[in-house]
Amino acid sequence: MSKKCRKKSVCAVVVMVAMLCISGCGSGKIKSDKVLRVGVVTYTQDDPFINALADKLKENLKSMETEDMKITVSVKNGNDDQQDQNDIVEEMIDAGCDVLCVNLVDRTAPSRIIRLAKQNDIPIIFFNREPVWEDLMQWEDLYYVGCDAEQSGVMQGEIAADYIKNHPEVDKNQDGEIQYVLLEGEAGHQDAISRTDFSVKTLIEKEVNLEKLSYQFADWNRGQAENRMNRLISQYKDGIELVISNNDEMALGAVEAYRKAGYEQAEWPVIFGIDGLDDALEAIKAGEMQGTVYNDKEDQALQIAKLAVEIFRGEDVNRNKLKEGRYYVSEYQPVYSSNVEDFIKRQTR
Ligand code: BGC
Repeated sequence: MSKKCRKKSVCAVVVMVAMLCISGCGSGKIKSDKVLRVGVVTYTQDDPFINALADKLKENLKSMETEDMKITVSVKNGNDDQQDQNDIVEEMIDAGCDVLCVNLVDRTAPSRIIRLAKQNDIPIIFFNREPVWEDLMQWEDLYYVGCDAEQSGVMQGEIAADYIKNHPEVDKNQDGEIQYVLLEGEAGHQDAISRTDFSVKTLIEKEVNLEKLSYQFADWNRGQAENRMNRLISQYKDGIELVISNNDEMALGAVEAYRKAGYEQAEWPVIFGIDGLDDALEAIKAGEMQGTVYNDKEDQALQIAKLAVEIFRGEDVNRNKLKEGRYYVSEYQPVYSSNVEDFIKRQTR
């Protein structure tokens, strides 16, 4: 290499390093500017659980600002379309960000997002919609914050079984079997699959005799669940004794359907959800729902925020505690009429 050429390549390296420092888009290991820019992309704008989690996340990140580190947060959604979400992630990267928090539209299709992030050296914390293990292992700066869906299914089954054992009147026609319908979240979602499976298995293990009337997908959505339940109520009249729902929004859709169908509350089936959203806690208090399982959005939001800051600062206090160095698993908690007030108080604090 000629002297002139060598000088040129040294210059090019110096310029590249300087540009990296200025853009602040690296993995955070070397930082000259102290602004942490976090890009949050949810799968839709219409999911109350996800919106509540994203609000908490924003709040937590803002509260973690220090004198020497400003934090900016940009929250967007993927319009329920994986292509759109990929484009939004690309725009966020182009606009400049240090850490991405992604709630995938399709948890089996994160490849383009991972490729983009890796090319630009921007760590991703996936949340709520879990990529498969092989995808998460594609690169060392990929993380996941969520829950163990099986645990929520088991808890829901236990709460329902206890309630049914203590309230023989649930078996309205006294035939020794509980006629039930199940409202399912979304085909392919890890939570829908395991919750459906384990809530029913647990009820059976607890020796509740079940008769399945119908399983209906309602995409986690209150309105869709109400429609499905309207049809089932027309078909079975007051013959449904138990509604098991993969989440609270759909359980509240069932409540709405019974309210509008004009049945007295005493004729309603017992209804169980998952999430512990404010409306569901109120419905339990009012006796319209009998239980739910608290999906700790506050804990998940806090862990995502802590991880984002740590990654940016190049620290690993919390990262050290992650399962396989990648997974944070939040604990679910059972909610029923006797402890619902504690959860309501927690929300208003
Ligand atoms: C929640 C649902 C939510 C879904 C979105 C689940 O963990 O329980 O309420 O709609 O995640 O992915």
